[in-house]
Amino acid sequence: MKDLFEKIYKDKGPLGKWAAQAEGYFVFPKLEGEISNRMKFQGKEVITWSINDYLGLANHPEVRKVDAEAAAQYGSAYPMGARMMSGHTDLHEQLQNELAEFVHKEAAYLLNFGYQGMVSTVDALVGKDDIIVYDVDAHACIIDGVRLHHGKRFTYKHNDIESLEKNLGRATKMAEQTGGGILVISEGVFGMRGEQGRLKEIVALKKKYNFRLFVDDAHGFGTLGKTGAGAGEEQGVQDDIDVYFATFAKSLASTGAFIAADQEIIDYLKYNLRSQMFAKSLQMQLVVGALKRLDMLRTMPELKQNLWKIVDALQSGLKDRGFDIGSTQSCVTPVYLNGSIPEAMALVRDLRENYGIFCSIVVYPVIPKGLILLRMIPTATHTLQDVSETLDAFDAIRERLENGTYKRMSAALMKAMGE
Ligand SMILES: Cc1ncc(COP(=O)(O)O)c(C=O)c1O
Repeated sequence: MKDLFEKIYKDKGPLGKWAAQAEGYFVFPKLEGEISNRMKFQGKEVITWSINDYLGLANHPEVRKVDAEAAAQYGSAYPMGARMMSGHTDLHEQLQNELAEFVHKEAAYLLNFGYQGMVSTVDALVGKDDIIVYDVDAHACIIDGVRLHHGKRFTYKHNDIESLEKNLGRATKMAEQTGGGILVISEGVFGMRGEQGRLKEIVALKKKYNFRLFVDDAHGFGTLGKTGAGAGEEQGVQDDIDVYFATFAKSLASTGAFIAADQEIIDYLKYNLRSQMFAKSLQMQLVVGALKRLDMLRTMPELKQNLWKIVDALQSGLKDRGFDIGSTQSCVTPVYLNGSIPEAMALVRDLRENYGIFCSIVVYPVIPKGLILLRMIPTATHTLQDVSETLDAFDAIRERLENGTYKRMSAALMKAMGE
């Protein structure tokens, strides 16, 4: 019989196999200093384009003050226990009511982490006779939720309404046999490439097919829509989203998340969400902090205006200089370049060391072979000066990529990797 660990000793996994070349620099980098447009990486100042602090709240003095006061008043333990047992408070309820109102839903329920909350919500919404139809590019937390499902599931091609309709047809036939219902899951904004889920067109299919729609709006909440209620509001279909999800980890610059829906659905979920029934309640300092942040979203429209000033400057600047930024319809700003993984590594090193620009890099297998994706997250803390320095740096690195500089620089690296 094999030792369970044998496979681990042999194979570190698709990302882990790059650890020796990548760890500490390309993965698990340590960004230091206060969360802002400029932070320190390995002792040098860098313009930071990789943090989802969209509205610049992470380090806002009013937020920091409220967080510190709440930590002093409540510590990090209170309340102890799961919501259902001993972890429930007036402020948890108040936050839920305010979140529900903000996203124009009847009720909301707090989740102590977005990821496990999504997994658990998918799990709670479906029974074995129900069918799930979801976008093939869905976030890992949706996929893991679907993995718990004992019944049938279909994926549809990314943001492809024809493919969704085909799969809804299949799912409808199957549901007629099983006696179950259908749950469609999309993201409000797909966080890697920035395109919005085609919620308007998905909702239009409700006229033809009987399904409920669950939207993960992690990147849309606070950034899209007239009031910041997200992708559904932006597309005029917020009322037709049956279950809405957002995390505090992006626009609210904190930890925690929530779901919002009709009162009856939330009442059901609150008694059936295993991630909340069997885990400690969201601690009070996070609840108080979220109340403050939400108040700022409501009363300080300039936060979103500042964000979009930077998004527009960055995205139009990149387009004007001939960069391919795909089909983003959100703040998420991808820049696609052609090159190998070693070239991508040399390019990112150059960007960080010589131009002081820090952004995330995505390569195969997340995107097709031969493509390099530099993923940039503009925030309200960035300045137009940051944008113009970054655009100049991008011009320079594109030239070096095209004239083979990175190929030469990466030759040694390729050799080391055995490619
Ligand atoms: C689309 C999406 N859904 C869910 C999550 C998980 O949220 P959390 O960080 O609160 O666990 C993330 C990442 O933060 C995300 O990008």
